[in-house]
Amino acid sequence: MGRNAKLLVGIETGDDAGVYQLADDICLIQTVDVITPIVDDPFLFGSVAAANALSDIYAMGGQPLTALNIVGFPSCSLPISVLSEILKGGLEKIREAGALLVGGHTVDDNELKYGLSVTGTANPGRIVTNRNASTGDLLILTKPLGTGIIATALKGKVAREEHLHAAAASMAALNRSASELMVEAGAHACTDITGFGLIGHAATMAQASRVTFSLDARQIPLLEGALDYASQGMIPRGAYNNEKFYSPRVKLDTRLSGDQLMALYDPQTSGGLLISVEKKRATALVERLKNGGIQEAAIVGEVIARGFHNIIIH
Ligand code: CO
Ligand code: CO
Ligand code: CO
Repeated sequence: MGRNAKLLVGIETGDDAGVYQLADDICLIQTVDVITPIVDDPFLFGSVAAANALSDIYAMGGQPLTALNIVGFPSCSLPISVLSEILKGGLEKIREAGALLVGGHTVDDNELKYGLSVTGTANPGRIVTNRNASTGDLLILTKPLGTGIIATALKGKVAREEHLHAAAASMAALNRSASELMVEAGAHACTDITGFGLIGHAATMAQASRVTFSLDARQIPLLEGALDYASQGMIPRGAYNNEKFYSPRVKLDTRLSGDQLMALYDPQTSGGLLISVEKKRATALVERLKNGGIQEAAIVGEVIARGFHNIIIH
């Protein structure tokens, strides 16, 4: 099957967005993401869902230009004021991203859902895909893991207020400056951490790049409270699904507790960027991320020659 030469990134590499070249110096980046509520407050849910959708543009090194709302709304069971709060939260994030809301669509749905279809642009030479992580690179993660576990603790009514606040702030934070800084640093590859957890998204990137990622479990930042809640059984079903699917591609070279391991499989909402960057640039990039307010950014591993496994955890 012939492939259109203007399609720079298609569906083969499990990338965050499709990329289509419009002219020599500009390409179109397109993505869509819709989620079910992860927090109780409708405005906050709107912010998180929008940040989550915008993130796929940032993971490619692009700038979002326009967004369309996509809503599934149970109009029989929820007042319309809930919908307007969700959309307000989303709009605030779209504006913070410097993008424009240009329309949307709502369908009646038994289960509440909200997200965006986002269109962005980039210079084709500066697109960052899953593909070019190189042996010797270091891996940087820009947000702590554990949003799925903390959301499960919220549903289980055991989550503490301060842990919920920290998780919500993390999920609502745009990956905008992380993206700008990683492009500036000449990052080789990048993805954002969402439903497949750190291990799932890292495995996809390692596979697309034909390398192995060696992750240092002790360096991987976790949200405060996540391990405690995990030990109370507050692990979302999605984490077990991820483990089932990805564990054959993972070699465990260290002794981790079951809870620590499940945190690495925990499905994230609006998670951070996983960035592969030349070793000599990694420390400076982490410093710039921290100076830019991304306090939890950390070097979490390195890229090694392709072995049998996509991921080694040590
Ligand atoms: Co993504
Ligand atoms: Co996505
Ligand atoms: Co990517």
